[in-house]
Amino acid sequence: MPFLHYNKPQKMPLSFQHLTSTKQLTREDMDGILKVALEMEKVRDNGGSDLLKGKVLASLFYEPSTRTRMSFESAMHRLGGSVITAEGIQFSSLYKGETIQDTISMASQYADIIVMRHPEQGSADLAVETASVPFINAGDGPGQHPTQGILDMVTIYKERGTLDGINVTMVGDLLYGRTVHSLSFLLGLYNDITFTFVAPDALQMPEKVTSYLDEKGMKYSTTSNLEDGLDSDVLYMTRIQKERFADSSQYEKLKDSYILQGSHVKDKDITVMHPLPRVNEISTDVDALPNAAYFRQASNGVIARMALLAMLLKQA
Ligand code: NCD
Repeated sequence: MPFLHYNKPQKMPLSFQHLTSTKQLTREDMDGILKVALEMEKVRDNGGSDLLKGKVLASLFYEPSTRTRMSFESAMHRLGGSVITAEGIQFSSLYKGETIQDTISMASQYADIIVMRHPEQGSADLAVETASVPFINAGDGPGQHPTQGILDMVTIYKERGTLDGINVTMVGDLLYGRTVHSLSFLLGLYNDITFTFVAPDALQMPEKVTSYLDEKGMKYSTTSNLEDGLDSDVLYMTRIQKERFADSSQYEKLKDSYILQGSHVKDKDITVMHPLPRVNEISTDVDALPNAAYFRQASNGVIARMALLAMLLKQA
């Protein structure tokens, strides 16, 4: 089937070859990805295309993942490409002591593009040292999760109709939650953004993000009270990241810090997002409200990744 909306593709060059962090993106990059993602939505809804026929994605997930991995693989298949996978460190050469650099150097021989999730922060930076095909970070421990940030931006645009002038409340584990780090850097590319960071003191937004916002002169406030954050355009809930706690009693103390109820957002013009999986942070009575955007957000993961794969492979 022809690529429906790209009869005469107008290619949108990205400013990077590998994606390890959302700090790499320019506003032009983000606007370009958004535009292509909206086109990809039509492609997907019309049965897909063969734009990436003959291309192979290496999907390397060394840390648990369901939706990110499935959404990358779905994106590749919907564009006619194919996927080879490696899953779980215990089954891989990394377990035998191979370095990340060697693993990626090998994967570059087998595939045209590589996506990797790995439990260690900084692993993506090691990977690009030897990647000879485009590399995408799908989560490096508590570091970054750039494609989640990108799909979150697509979601905010689709739900709110703009990316400028948005007030965003981020709630939960802002310390270890990599998605809020990636998203904050992307929002930093737009005008008049205001943040409210709601977290227990021990899990507040780290300095690597607040210093970036300070440098850009952006407005943010921190609080531990959920009620302080309910007047925003977007309410971004996150899971307390159990796997990052060295001390499980600390996790037990903090795990139910915030539980959003339908009554918090009902009749309010506030969009509720969550990267999923949720544990306890959003009561199921929110699901049926028009505010609940988190399942639509997951669906946007596929179109955002279709856009990114096609653009990094210079086909869109
Ligand atoms: C997030 C992640 O892996 O960081 N999930 C995801 O990508 N869908 C959020 C989380 O695990 O809490």
